[in-house]
Amino acid sequence: MDGNGRWAKRRGLPRTEGHTAGEENLAEVVRVCANRNVGFLTVFGFSTENWVRPPAEVKHILSLHKRLFGRIEELNANNVRIQWIGRPFDEPGSKTPAFIQRAILQAIEDTAHNTGMVLTVAFDYGSRAELLRAAQRARTSQQSAQNISMQGISDNLYSPTLPPVDVVVRTSGESRISNFLLWQIMGAKVYFTERTWPDFDTHEIDNALKLVHDR
Ligand code: IPE
Ligand code: MG
Repeated sequence: MDGNGRWAKRRGLPRTEGHTAGEENLAEVVRVCANRNVGFLTVFGFSTENWVRPPAEVKHILSLHKRLFGRIEELNANNVRIQWIGRPFDEPGSKTPAFIQRAILQAIEDTAHNTGMVLTVAFDYGSRAELLRAAQRARTSQQSAQNISMQGISDNLYSPTLPPVDVVVRTSGESRISNFLLWQIMGAKVYFTERTWPDFDTHEIDNALKLVHDR
């Protein structure tokens, strides 16, 4: 969900306002995607690299995640089930504060009964860390350390039930791949747009979905 800072800058607002607008837009995007019968929507909320941002900005982004994971009524109204991917809380190096851990676990529990779209939020997520951990776990769970299999990696991703990605969306004119779902995006279409994340609207969603439907 890139471009919150640029969205704010263009309006002469502090970056934090951009993040707030981004979180509000996510709520709308979730509603529209659920309405379009999207099965899985996975969003990059906060990366393992984002912790080095100024503390006030990090604090603000964390509070927005608390808000996002607290939107239980809306999620239930839209039949959306919450999932999370990221560095496990008990792993060395995990920086997720307890109040976010609680918000994540509570949202998962409170939406577990929903049968519609699965919204997976990547928080303290990095694809390379995920793959390294998957390889290490595959090695210890298989008979031979020399023989790590594709299936062994797939089975040990943070969320092994996440299906392969159909379309990757890159907002705010970024025409590069980031540290996001590197294993899962093989073969995916990529939708590039100049729009910043807070301006990513229904028309944009439909353009991205067209790439999938036109396959
Ligand atoms: C994305 O917006 C939000 C997070 C990475 C948490 P940015 O903050 O990266 O916005 P730009 O790239 O500076 O415009
Ligand atoms: Mg950015």
